Amino acid sequence: MQLIIQSPPSLAGDLRPPGDKSISHRAAIIGALAAGETVIEGFLEGADCLSTLRCLRALGVAIDGPHGGRVVIRGQGPGGLKEPETVLNAGNSGTTLRLLAGVLAGQTFYSVFTGDASLRRRPMGRVVQPLRAMGARIWGRRGGELAPLSIWGGNLQPLTYTLPVASAQVKSALLLAGLMAPGETVITEPCRSRDHSERMLQAAGADIQVEGLKIRVKGQKALQPLHIRVPGDISAAAFFLVAGCIHQQASLKLENVNLNPTRSGILDVLAAMGGQIKITPRGESGGEPIGDIQVTSSSLRGVEIGGDLIPRLIDEIPVLAVAAALAEGETVIRDAAELRVKESDRITMVARELGRMGASIQTRPDGFLIQGRPGNCLRGAMVDSHDDHRLGMALAVAALVAAGPTQIRGADCIAISYPGFTADLARLGVEVREVD
Ligand code: S3P
Repeated sequence: MQLIIQSPPSLAGDLRPPGDKSISHRAAIIGALAAGETVIEGFLEGADCLSTLRCLRALGVAIDGPHGGRVVIRGQGPGGLKEPETVLNAGNSGTTLRLLAGVLAGQTFYSVFTGDASLRRRPMGRVVQPLRAMGARIWGRRGGELAPLSIWGGNLQPLTYTLPVASAQVKSALLLAGLMAPGETVITEPCRSRDHSERMLQAAGADIQVEGLKIRVKGQKALQPLHIRVPGDISAAAFFLVAGCIHQQASLKLENVNLNPTRSGILDVLAAMGGQIKITPRGESGGEPIGDIQVTSSSLRGVEIGGDLIPRLIDEIPVLAVAAALAEGETVIRDAAELRVKESDRITMVARELGRMGASIQTRPDGFLIQGRPGNCLRGAMVDSHDDHRLGMALAVAALVAAGPTQIRGADCIAISYPGFTADLARLGVEVREVD
């Protein structure tokens, strides 16, 4: 499917972004490991989270839904999982494969995991090696670096481990494996990544403590089922935050957005760029701080970003590149080499596709150098998502300020994280057409 988008004269309205993707995955997995009925509301019905539900069902977990974002998981504890009769398919979802690899490492049965072409190219050694050190037997292509992976788990030993790269997926996989090992597993991060697993495990009664960059979990304690209201995904809201800043006639309100500080780097950077953003806190949802965000047309300036900020906005960098292309002056993004092993090589593809629309973006091994040109400097073009949902949506945001129509090929992938994206654009007054 292709999207054809015209820049609208104005961009106005209120939106509720879809449920947080990371939290939806974790709610389903932790619900499956708890003993009893977990109720999830606001579950993201994107393809990635549906992959997690599909794999859990194949592991014998009884699940109702999703019906209008409501999912009921009838968990029977980690011992209630059953050997899957066939290959588990995580689709495009790194979170599904890596987190469930941690769970399966603790199971005394055989399972095989695969995914789509993009997922089969992504690095798995980062999760395979420490899980092997805990005692799991795992095989995969290139010595376990690439999926398909086969896992024969059980009899895990606790682990003390420092992650070589900041990765919430690897951290979470090891914490989940640690739940099934006797004694204390201690994981140290190089810098703080999203902490949804720690929050949710704490709420479910796990014996888990966070001390700075160290997380300690004591295994073999039963988890309690939860009732979780998933907050709106700031990574989905980010597309409209940037759209509101760069469009010259914009006033948007994004409601019920997760403001967890391990995820809200985009708000800090847009504020530093001169973005007109107002945040109204609205308490908590699902153990996470939430709020409404108002954004209006802004005159942006370039920034330099790197270091510990990067994991706090890693998924927002494609759309941040759009903001930088329209800002006054230069933007430098460094320490973001992880972008090369996401759903696509986002450093290469963001520069290539935004370049087709006239943006001036140079790639670096670990980021970008972007020469901003304020005003309507982008031109509509024929561009491609490379089957990367966040690149597809970043291109759609660029199209909102481009002269002439933009045609985005491979737009189906947007449903991986934001199935209602096109409908939400239309709701704000954007002329958007879907064509085969
Ligand atoms: C995620 C963690 C991040 C992020 C991904 C979702 C998660 O990846 O980019 O979209 O849900 O834990 P890494 O763990 O590779 O940093």
